[in-house]
Amino acid sequence: MQKIFYSWQESLCREQKAPLCTLLIFGGSGDLATRKLFPALFALFRKKLMHPETKIITCARHPYDTDSFRAKIFQRLKEITPSGDEQRKIPSFLEKVSYCILDYGREKDFLPLAEQIGRSGLLISYLALPPTLYAETVRNLSAAGLLEEDPGKERRCHVVFEKPFGLDLKSFHILDRELKKYLREEQIYRIDHYLGKETVQNIFLLRFANVIFEEVWNRKHIDSIQIIAAEDRGVGTRGRYFDQAGILRDMFQNHLLEMLSLVTMECPAFYNADAIRSEKLKLIRSIRTIDPADTVRGQYGSYTSEPGIDPCSRTETFAALRLFIDSERWQSVPVYLQAGKKLSAGRTEIHIVFKSVTHSLFPGIRTEDLQQDVLHLSIQPGEGMALTLQAKKPGPKLCMGALSLCYEADPACAGTGLDAYGRLLLDCQLSDQTLFVSSDLIESSWELFQGVLDVWASDPSSVPLNLYVDGSEGPPESGALLKRDNRKWLRFPGK
Ligand code: BG6
Repeated sequence: MQKIFYSWQESLCREQKAPLCTLLIFGGSGDLATRKLFPALFALFRKKLMHPETKIITCARHPYDTDSFRAKIFQRLKEITPSGDEQRKIPSFLEKVSYCILDYGREKDFLPLAEQIGRSGLLISYLALPPTLYAETVRNLSAAGLLEEDPGKERRCHVVFEKPFGLDLKSFHILDRELKKYLREEQIYRIDHYLGKETVQNIFLLRFANVIFEEVWNRKHIDSIQIIAAEDRGVGTRGRYFDQAGILRDMFQNHLLEMLSLVTMECPAFYNADAIRSEKLKLIRSIRTIDPADTVRGQYGSYTSEPGIDPCSRTETFAALRLFIDSERWQSVPVYLQAGKKLSAGRTEIHIVFKSVTHSLFPGIRTEDLQQDVLHLSIQPGEGMALTLQAKKPGPKLCMGALSLCYEADPACAGTGLDAYGRLLLDCQLSDQTLFVSSDLIESSWELFQGVLDVWASDPSSVPLNLYVDGSEGPPESGALLKRDNRKWLRFPGK
């Protein structure tokens, strides 16, 4: 077939630099901080998006001192920073980093921090901690005056929370009430790192900066939507957390629903956090109660022998479901969601499947013989998009087929090269909540999934837990969920 080229003509490129700020990272010696946060902060530093005088104070229980902690982070940054020039920047970055031993539950441990930081400028407290420690940490931050804002001296305080925000609707309410005793919603930055991923942000541009898609983005033209977040990894070292959570809480209630809301929400009145969050919320509230008969769950074969997992565990590591959105735009369009661990390949993809033409002009070809047009978005690995269209194969005869035009971003040219955490850490310093999740949105997403969780728990035989082979496509029941609607799970072309 023909060779495909693409070209790029820039029309706008705006990157704001962060203002001066002090960053407190609680749980800073842990896995998340080492794997994700410090590399992301170093990327901001290298790209000169961090203010030159920003300070990073790492707070944790582990008995490091500043020197030994810097040595640990140095190793990590060296491993992931290939080039000599970039590696040479690590020591100047580490000069910003200090370490402080602290017990999250002990109020007096927070007082020296308050003295060290002073009372002006932006203060960000990042809680890279298990959610069970959120309430006491915030209470002690408050007691030490580390949440007190002062518009005169421009002291603003943001607190960043990692998911999960509760394990169900009830625990979400308890946590939310507790945090709101000390914080206003505007100070709370709830991370869903999927919102920082490039292609997820691109959904917005694709939909609202092009006329060709928005016109057909509705039930008249769209047959169905699929969102797939498949991982080839198992639970790894997070067994204890995951075994309590399961994939529905871990991936659907947050990442999948966020992606779905961006794909299906109405156009907001403005490009700002309030307008976008409010449209996302409306969308989530218009999702019809999910019928448990439209859900499938599974567990990979070796799950119960993983570290930290109860050998009799009935926790699902895979789920697939069908849902409907009750709105003028989406009435009767099925949306299929799937996420799972230890599958054949790691891939996060969105597929927008268009309806077939209603009349076939071509002799001998029935409308049902024509394949459907599909817009495919690849979130990872490889950020890209593809359009599958009907086309004629070059040659004398009428030979039709599906032609996929694929684009995959070259990582070397992909904009600022910030990963999701880098993007979100920058936005938090810029006080931009657009890519953070509001409390009412989390509440609505728990409301949506609570019914399914309740049925799965109270009547387990109604939706059996199907075992699947490690490295497979998940339980066969997942394919059957679509087959009964005459559909099948799709893949990004060529992957
Ligand atoms: C996290 C989940 O939020 O997302 C993990 O808790 C999951 O279980 C991870 O593995 C997937 O993120 P990514 O960016 O690797 O797709």
